[in-house]
Amino acid sequence: MDIIESLKWRYATKKFDPSKSVSPDDLQTILEVGNLAATSYGLQPFQFVVVSDPAIRQQLVPFSYNQPQPAQASHVIVIAVRTDVDAEFIRESARFTEQVRDLEVGQLDGYAKQMIGAITSMNEQERLLWAQKQSYIVLANLMTACAVLKIDSCPMEGFIPAEYNRILDLDAKNLHASVVLPVGYRAGDDEQQGFAKVRKPLGEMTHFV
Ligand SMILES: Cc1cc2nc3c(=O)[nH]c(=O)nc-3n(C[C@H](O)[C@H](O)[C@H](O)COP(=O)(O)O)c2cc1C
Repeated sequence: MDIIESLKWRYATKKFDPSKSVSPDDLQTILEVGNLAATSYGLQPFQFVVVSDPAIRQQLVPFSYNQPQPAQASHVIVIAVRTDVDAEFIRESARFTEQVRDLEVGQLDGYAKQMIGAITSMNEQERLLWAQKQSYIVLANLMTACAVLKIDSCPMEGFIPAEYNRILDLDAKNLHASVVLPVGYRAGDDEQQGFAKVRKPLGEMTHFV
């Protein structure tokens, strides 16, 4: 399938087949694609929380406005933003880049200082929003990877982050649930798959200047 065909095949799956599981290899590929997402300054202010345990996935349903996807899907990928992006985190990221790129220790100190200035000038709320923006780029990468692999998914903002944080013990990990992607295989009787895709014509969506 080419990319357009894959993306036309994808839809926000409402009903998953609970008997089907995503293979560990495919799951790994999907997460690798997510990890290759671009992020502001390359700081990757997020982590993946992959929930496979059926009992925990079931617990998420009432805090997902009773949407059944977390329980029926094969895995629930919670993209959680880091709440610990501070000067030390940024210095460590710069050190890691120096290491990966074989640079002298301290070579990126100036750049780190610039990043620290930009990030620490934001208040806590602004920093959370900044990190959440990155998580949506990750979400898009994950969804595209799934579509290419013929794996179904449903992007979900319809959940209560504080309750996800509690159930998944995210506060203790300095994480906050940002957006959720149940992945798996569509149920044969998910009515949604028969609905025509609704998109405005590209010509109405684009300005060439
Ligand atoms: C950020 C975001 C949040 C969404 N939240 C939900 C959700 O909580 N539950 C749901 O069933 N669909 C959710 N959707 C799916 C959209 O309703 C769906 O993508 C849109 O109607 C277009 O349909 P399609 O993806 O099937 O082409 C969400 C989509 C996005 C991008």
